[in-house]
Amino acid sequence: MKDEVQGKFITIEGIEGVGKSTNIAFMTRLLRSAGKEVVVTREPGGTPFAERIRALLVDPDCDPCTPDTELLLMFASRAEHLAGKIWPALERGAWVVCDRFTDATFAYQGAGRGIESGHIGALEAWLQKGLRPHLTILLDADVQIGLERAGKRGELDRFEREELQFFDRVRAGYLDIAQREPERVKVVDASSALARVQEQIGRHLAALLEEADAAD
Ligand code: TMP
Repeated sequence: MKDEVQGKFITIEGIEGVGKSTNIAFMTRLLRSAGKEVVVTREPGGTPFAERIRALLVDPDCDPCTPDTELLLMFASRAEHLAGKIWPALERGAWVVCDRFTDATFAYQGAGRGIESGHIGALEAWLQKGLRPHLTILLDADVQIGLERAGKRGELDRFEREELQFFDRVRAGYLDIAQREPERVKVVDASSALARVQEQIGRHLAALLEEADAAD
C-alpha cells in the first residue's frame, strides 16, 4: 500500500457552479496560516501531460466520446497526476488540495454515464494503490442553481452542455458516496451564505489539523 504518506490529501467535489474555486482559495489560506505547505491542483489535469488530456475531455468539439473512453482518459490523467504531483507532494509532507478526484469519476462516469461502479473501483484499486483522500468537502446545491452560475462564466464545456437530468444523477451519485462514507465526505450546503459555507469548511479542516498534530 502506498498510502502511508506524510501529508494530507484533501479533495473538493460537487456539480458545476457550486463555488469550488472560491472555497479552494479559502482552504488554502487557512492551511497556510496553520503553517502547512499546500499544493493546490485539479482533475482532470494537474501536470502538463494530464492537462493535455483534460483539454480533450472538456472540448465540446470532441463529442461524441464513449463513456468507456471518457473513463479511461480520466484515469490516464489521474495516473500522470498521481505520479508527477500528488505522491511527491504527500511524501514530502505537503498538504494537497485537489479540485475533484475519483469521487467525481463515480459521480459523473458512474452515476451520470451509467458505467458499472465495479469497473471504476478496479481502476481505482490498480492506479491509486490504496491512496484515498483524508477529507473530501462535497459542496452540494440544487442542480439548477449550479448550472445557472456555471452558465454565466462563458462558453460551456463538453460536460456543462449535458442535460439537467445528467446533473441530477451526478448530484445523487455524490450524495450516495457521502452517505456511505460520512467519516471522509463532509456535505456542505453550497446554497447557503458564503460565510456559513466557510464556517463549516473551516470546522472540518480544523478537525483534520488537530488529528494530524495529535499524530505527530
Ligand atoms: P471543472 O474542473 O471545470 O469542473 O471541469 C472538469 C469536468 O470534468 C467537470 O465537468 C467534471 C468532469 N469530471 C468527470 O467527469 N470525471 C472525473 O473523474 C473528473 C475528475 C472530472
